[in-house]
Amino acid sequence: MADDAKPTGPNLSKGVSLADLADGGMLVGHVGDDEVLLACRSGEVFAVSAHCSHYHGPLAEGLLVGDTVRCPWHHACFSLRTGEPLQPPALGPIDCWSVEQHDDKVFVTEKRETKPTPRARPASSPPGRIVIVGGGAAGFAAAEMLRRQDYQGDIVMLSDDDAAPVDRPNLSKDYLAGTAPEEWVPLRGDDFYAENGIELRLAAHVAAVDLRAREVTLGGGGKVPYDRLLLATGAEPVRLVLPGADLPHVYTLRSLADSRAIIERAKQARRVVVIGASFIGLEVAAALRARKLEVHVVAPEKRPMERILGPAMGDLVRSLHEEHGVAFHLGESPAAIEARQVRLKSGGALDADLVIMGVGVKPRTALAEKAGLKLDRGVVANALLETGAPGVFAAGDIVRWPDPHTGQAIRVEHWVVAQRQGQTAALNMLGHGAAFDAVPFFWSQHYDVPINYVGHAEAWDELAVEGDIAGKDCLVRYKVRGRTLAVASIYRDVASLEAEVVMEGERA
Ligand SMILES: Cc1cc2nc3c(=O)[nH]c(=O)nc-3n(C[C@H](O)[C@H](O)[C@H](O)COP(=O)(O)OP(=O)(O)OC[C@H]3O[C@@H](n4cnc5c(N)ncnc54)[C@H](O)[C@@H]3O)c2cc1C
Ligand code: FES
Repeated sequence: MADDAKPTGPNLSKGVSLADLADGGMLVGHVGDDEVLLACRSGEVFAVSAHCSHYHGPLAEGLLVGDTVRCPWHHACFSLRTGEPLQPPALGPIDCWSVEQHDDKVFVTEKRETKPTPRARPASSPPGRIVIVGGGAAGFAAAEMLRRQDYQGDIVMLSDDDAAPVDRPNLSKDYLAGTAPEEWVPLRGDDFYAENGIELRLAAHVAAVDLRAREVTLGGGGKVPYDRLLLATGAEPVRLVLPGADLPHVYTLRSLADSRAIIERAKQARRVVVIGASFIGLEVAAALRARKLEVHVVAPEKRPMERILGPAMGDLVRSLHEEHGVAFHLGESPAAIEARQVRLKSGGALDADLVIMGVGVKPRTALAEKAGLKLDRGVVANALLETGAPGVFAAGDIVRWPDPHTGQAIRVEHWVVAQRQGQTAALNMLGHGAAFDAVPFFWSQHYDVPINYVGHAEAWDELAVEGDIAGKDCLVRYKVRGRTLAVASIYRDVASLEAEVVMEGERA
């Protein structure tokens, strides 16, 4: 809570009547300066922090599922008993308080110490050293989960980035817009790695994996042996091959260094052309509008995001950006980039002193391919996220895994999925045998409008709209033969969470 903010709701240490708390209900009050959520499940009352440890989402506006609460904003899940973050994007716990019941009143007493509860140890002995290639969403979540499980062996995390793991989604949103300070960007402070015995080696490019010798070779020639290996090398932005694509004012965006470089350039720029109306391209457009640049978006499709969200949501996204002054040039492609212009295939030209290519990414599978692992538009893994090589796992943007909900082998490029896969791979490197069965989730933010998407629908035969898309209050179901494969929503968080719970129970 901000220093000057007054805690809201009843003083829970003085007690509230049980009658005010229906079974399955939530109520926000305070204990001292802390905002506390009281939740009642099957007659049991829990008291936890009212805010999510990810971006401070209001948990009372989320959903209770069993003895857990899910955050309305990006679907993190916490144990009401221990405060433990059970599902990313949250990786930190929420506070818990003790509760006492006297007659028909509940009283919240002292804050309890919260500790993660490791799973029961598997029968097999733990590996001596785990090497993680990649310091992104999946790699970081894996390392964190290994220590949460009380793994005592060596963890070596090798990343060819110069920066320690960062909150990548922020790089095209508030950080790029200038509304989030840089200290929000690292996933953890530098001390975290030493304190948790994670040997993080930055600017460490892994050039090869020797599956027989069980070691990786670094670009500089050093070797690192492993007992278990996690490949979490992510994806890299596609750069269109066209004249001028390598001029210094042409950028792609993946890393903190990329975002910093765009911010520096934007300080002197007046007009930007964003090539591509993808999620990242349009988030960049919104962020650069916040920096008062004139923004033009060039993309070959008729509507932004139509292939993923359908025509009406595509129109909404377009009008949202137009309301904020973005000019679209749809049905157009760039032919060449010059120092002060982008030439279009149709013959026209747009002035630009900054160009961003947001035309998609390709998974960084070269290392896996060179090692001889099986590829199919990604690294092929089984339900445990283990590749064909025993002891070698894959997670995040590179992995194609058998998704039990669609019955297909899928690969997605979502932050939360990468984190959850990193965690599952971590459990399986310890021998837990946990199938990865999370329902995919992603979010995207355009100005003040968040779009949440749950599930996976590459195509649909019916699109059912609840609410009002143009009014920015809706839930859209993407269905195949009557079954909902995915939902996209704006400001319908509980319905989105409920749809997620239903999808979790469904198998193809
Ligand atoms: C700007 C931006 C905004 C995004 N916003 C969202 C969003 O709002 N919602 C959402 O769901 N998703 C979002 N995404 C997608 C999301 O960030 C990715 O899906 C996620 O980061 C994938 O995690 P990962 O661990 O697979 O890969 P990454 O996070 O990319 O990490 C890969 C790591 O591997 C390292 N690496 C690669 N090859 C090697 C090698 N050979 N040797 C050593 N290290 C190597 C890289 O340096 C990096 O550290 C966004 C992506 C970007 C770029
Ligand atoms: S704020 Fe709760 S999951 Fe992001």
